[in-house]
Amino acid sequence: MSLQSLTISGLRNIASLQLVLAPRTNIFSGPNGSGKTSILEAVHLLSLARSFRTSKYKHYIRHEEPHCTLFGRVAAPEGGVLPVGVQRDQGGTLKVRIAGETVESLATLAELLPVQLINADTFALLEGSPGVRRQFMDWGGFHLEPRFFSAWKATRRALKQRNSLLKYGKLEPSVRAAWDAQLVARAEELDGYRTRYIEALIPCFERLLAELVELEGLRLQYYRGWDRNRPLDQVLAEGLERDRAQGFTQQGPQRADLRVKVGGVAAAEILSRGQQKLVVSALKVAQGYLLKELMGRHCIYLIDDLPAELDAQHRQRLCMLLERMNTQVLVTCTDASAFAGCWSNDTDVQEFPIRDGKLANNPVNGSKE
Ligand SMILES: Nc1ncnc2c1ncn2[C@@H]1O[C@H](COP(=O)(O)OP(=O)(O)OP(=O)(O)O)[C@@H](O)[C@H]1O
Ligand SMILES: [Mg+2]
Repeated sequence: MSLQSLTISGLRNIASLQLVLAPRTNIFSGPNGSGKTSILEAVHLLSLARSFRTSKYKHYIRHEEPHCTLFGRVAAPEGGVLPVGVQRDQGGTLKVRIAGETVESLATLAELLPVQLINADTFALLEGSPGVRRQFMDWGGFHLEPRFFSAWKATRRALKQRNSLLKYGKLEPSVRAAWDAQLVARAEELDGYRTRYIEALIPCFERLLAELVELEGLRLQYYRGWDRNRPLDQVLAEGLERDRAQGFTQQGPQRADLRVKVGGVAAAEILSRGQQKLVVSALKVAQGYLLKELMGRHCIYLIDDLPAELDAQHRQRLCMLLERMNTQVLVTCTDASAFAGCWSNDTDVQEFPIRDGKLANNPVNGSKE
């Protein structure tokens, strides 16, 4: 998958902008506040119908505009091009169209255009709550295992039901048993997908990380959310009184985590900022490599302020890994010279200087106003 073109209207400081993207490397450079991150935000919105900067759509719709519209031409895996459009208006209404058809399920959109984001917030993968890492693992499950999404949704539904019975209901043993059986079956299925995904991810991640930086003793460890030696039905039965007192289920796949440790200590506690950035980049790049190796599909990399925290040598190594993946990359920086020598000569690199939400000095990709 790659985006051949992207049209943005009414997003932040971008009134209207049309970009013809290179199939590989696209660099957006410009001063602070010029609109570079907004361009990555546009691709994210086109892929997931949500921003990575805010959950409030009013904040990203350009002031005084009735709506924000993103339109892209996506090179489809089986050949050909699919037009994709996403529009959000000030009232919150969302319209998604793929190839002229209205799409109701956002999963269809996410499946079509997988994106990976690397920005300052991706440090949360190391220092944030387990929920951030579950989201990371589940990206892999979603894109690599067709049955994942239904197991994930069914687990969430059964868990919600169990929690509301714990909190408000009189928990009849037979009702509890029925919900527990449902939860256990789908949770074990979900755990199986997560386990298989992480088993495939670990060697790929370790190989890529070793190419980026030497970090002796760094390990990834999957925790499924309950004791590895006891079946979930037993864990739920034994924990029932505590669950009832707390009003929610304490153990289960909703507590799963992917622990990143160096010599047994949480990586966020001891690694430098630059080392942390390399670890999270290797994790995200490994996901793209696996998607390509196992499914023959590509994802688009959105990397905000790529030079931040990385010295020239590590910047170059990361660019080399991205280049080798042969995937589309959109990076931002304040000064494009930060990438001098980072890309090989035969890579098609398209530079987009951005000023005030428009393209500066570019007659081919000129903004349409
Ligand atoms: N809803 C909005 N309507 C109009 N302008 C907005 C809106 N939200 C944000 N802006 C402005 O849009 C601009 C785009 O910001 P963006 O974060 O894309 O810049 P940037 O080029 O990534 O800057 P930096 O180098 O500082 O990261 C900013 O000047 C911001 O003040
Ligand atoms: Mg920015």
